[in-house]
Amino acid sequence: MVVTGASGRTGSRVAPAAEAAGLTVRAASRATGFDWWDPSTWADTLRGADAAYLAHPMDVGAPGAAEVIGALAREAVGLGVRRLVLLSARGEDQALPTEEALHASGADWTVVRAAWFAQNFSEGPLVAELRERGELVFPADEVREPFLDVRDIADVVVTALTSGDRYVGRTVTLSGPRLLTFGAAVAEIAEATGRPLAYRAVSTRDYGEALAGFGVPAEEVAALTAIFDTLLDGRNAHLSDGVHEVLGRAPRDFSDFVREETAAGTWKA
Ligand SMILES: NC(=O)c1ccc[n+]([C@@H]2O[C@H](COP(=O)([O-])OP(=O)(O)OC[C@H]3O[C@@H](n4cnc5c(N)ncnc54)[C@H](OP(=O)(O)O)[C@@H]3O)[C@@H](O)[C@H]2O)c1
Repeated sequence: MVVTGASGRTGSRVAPAAEAAGLTVRAASRATGFDWWDPSTWADTLRGADAAYLAHPMDVGAPGAAEVIGALAREAVGLGVRRLVLLSARGEDQALPTEEALHASGADWTVVRAAWFAQNFSEGPLVAELRERGELVFPADEVREPFLDVRDIADVVVTALTSGDRYVGRTVTLSGPRLLTFGAAVAEIAEATGRPLAYRAVSTRDYGEALAGFGVPAEEVAALTAIFDTLLDGRNAHLSDGVHEVLGRAPRDFSDFVREETAAGTWKA
C-alpha cells in the first residue's frame, strides 16, 4: 500500500502499523519524490500498489483540496489502486467536497473523520511556542474537544484495510474518550512536566493576523480562520464512537499521551 504523508503525524504511524499487519508499505512524501502539487509524480508512486492512505498535506477542507484528492483518486483507480482511505476532519463542513470527490472517483473508499489530534500539542506548528515560550496561543476559548491520539487513527486505517469489504463505502468518525478545553489540555501538560505552561485564547481574527505576520498567504489565512470559526464553535463538543466500533476497544486517553510525551522530553524548555 501507498502511505502519503509518511513523515507526518498520521502517516508515520500508519506505515509501521500496516507493516505490523503484514502489508507492504510504500512511503510517499516529497522526500520520496511524490508531490501533491505535481501530478507528474503520482503514477510512479501509485503504480503496482493495491491501496493507499491519503492525507492531504494542508487542511482537508482547504481551497483546492477536493480537486487534488479527486484527481489523485481517479488516477489511482485508473492504475488499479482501488482501495483508498482518506483522512478527513470530524465536523468540518469545508471537508465535505473533498470526501465527495473521493466518492465520485470510482474507488473502494473509506473516509476516516478525525477529531483534533492530541499530537497537535507534541508535533507540528503549535509545539515550538509551547516549548520555548511556555504559552500556547490559539482561537479556542472554553470550547471542549475530545482530543484523539493519532495512533488510534493508524489502527483504524489498518483495520479498515485488512477487513475485506467491511469498511468499503463507509465513513467512520473518531474521537478521544474525554472532552477537554484547550486550557485544560495545556494544564495537564503543565502538571505532568512541572513547567508553568499557559494557554491564551485569542479571537480567530487576531490569530489570522498573527498567521499573516508569519507570512502565511492571505487566501490560506482566510480559509483557515473560516475553518477554525466553525470547527471550534461548539459543534464538536461531543464524543464519537468510531474507535470502539472499528477496534472494539476504548480510544487512548489524553493523559496517557501526556505521560508518554513527558517521559520522552517533548516539552522540555
Ligand atoms: N491536526 C488535526 O488535528 C487534524 C484533525 C483531522 C484531520 N486532519 C487532517 O490531517 C491532514 C494532515 O495529515 P498529518 O497531520 O498526518 O500530516 P502532517 O503531520 O501535517 O505532515 C504533512 C505530511 O505531508 C507531506 N507533504 C507536505 N507537503 C507535501 C507535498 N506537496 N507533496 C507530498 N507530500 C507533502 C509531509 O512530508 P514532506 O515534507 O516530506 O513532503 C508530511 O509527511 C490534513 O489534511 C488535515 O486536514 C488534521
